[in-house]
Amino acid sequence: MTDSVSRKLARAALLHTNRALYAGLLRPLIFRQSAQDAHERMIRWLRWADSQAWLLPFVGMVRTLAFRSEAVTVGGVTLEAPLILAAGLVKGDGFDSEAAALDAVSSGRNIIPGWRVLPRLVGAVEFGSFTRWPRLGNPGTVVWRDVDTHSSQNRVGLRNPGARVAAVFLGARKDHLPPVFGINLAVSPGVDDPAEQTREIVESLAFFFEQGIKPDWITLNLSCPNTGDDPGSHQTIDGARLVCGAALDALGDIPLWVKLGPTLADEQYRALMAVFAEIGVRAVVATNTLPMSSPDDPGVQAGVGGGRLHTRAVEVAAALAGEKNVQNYTVDIVGCGGVQDGATYQDFARLGARAVQYWTAMIYRGPLAAALIAGEAGSQDKS
Ligand SMILES: Cc1cc2nc3c(=O)[nH]c(=O)nc-3n(C[C@H](O)[C@H](O)[C@H](O)COP(=O)(O)O)c2cc1C
Repeated sequence: MTDSVSRKLARAALLHTNRALYAGLLRPLIFRQSAQDAHERMIRWLRWADSQAWLLPFVGMVRTLAFRSEAVTVGGVTLEAPLILAAGLVKGDGFDSEAAALDAVSSGRNIIPGWRVLPRLVGAVEFGSFTRWPRLGNPGTVVWRDVDTHSSQNRVGLRNPGARVAAVFLGARKDHLPPVFGINLAVSPGVDDPAEQTREIVESLAFFFEQGIKPDWITLNLSCPNTGDDPGSHQTIDGARLVCGAALDALGDIPLWVKLGPTLADEQYRALMAVFAEIGVRAVVATNTLPMSSPDDPGVQAGVGGGRLHTRAVEVAAALAGEKNVQNYTVDIVGCGGVQDGATYQDFARLGARAVQYWTAMIYRGPLAAALIAGEAGSQDKS
């Protein structure tokens, strides 16, 4: 479907206004607060916005106007637009037990802020990461920004309500779930026994299915750099084969995607691609954040996203795409890492990625970041 001239003009006006308002007014105001305070404020706003029935249709209209029509199919999923909000924004509150999380749901609390409003505003969203059991995440300051390089850094530490209660919460609201969404699952940090890892993933999937929730894709997060444990083991060939194989058995016709970190050697990426192709993984999300010293304590690692990740994420995507092309694998690459404008989007598109994920762009370009990026990437197509 092509857009009419009046629609294109209206979109251009909306995006121009958004760009000017966010960069000129809102971002300077937001950046007067620490990244941590701004993050917490945003979560409070999302929790409020989810409950505002009057606001949701308006938000939906903004999305319809802001995005060009450019449906793509990637990893077995058809998306309205080739940009997906990455895991970690709509992941929910942290709890120390399932009982506490269930109590919160029973008391009427929205335990997954943004679940309703964000998909309406930005289109495709990957919910999670959810782990089998609830996690409080790390205490204290866990989010930073580096404005000069348009980067973020975090050690949220997989804070989430746990797969069972996330499923209960979303299951009770499934009539309001978006038409297209993914769910990101991670093995609990510190669980090293492969049988236990597999059990966690299979049980987590079962919770969602029991609640009648059928996501368009499941991403297994085989890389979580911010938990203080050694997550690298999930990215080994044997570990990946085992956990992904079990997930595939449980998934039926739902496509399985896998998310990798940026710190492996090229031969590991190549070997993992061979396994993914062999067992039927449909897409690889490259990459998660890059572990670096946290701004507050050089002895503590925190994951860098945005500008400082971009070059490495593109290198990883290139290694994966190279192997895909040489071997003729059908596994798609979903670029992730520092996509913040048309040029950074094209860095992944040139490698054959038909879709990208983004997170840090929400900080630097605002809530309509995806529409801005899509518009800029489109105008570069023509240049
Ligand atoms: C605050 C924060 C929390 C995140 N939490 C998760 C998570 O729970 N699971 C996950 O797979 N990725 C998580 N990520 C990583 C993002 O999904 C993404 O891979 C990374 O930020 C790189 O994309 P970007 O450069 O566009 O930010 C998180 C990122 C941020 C900034």
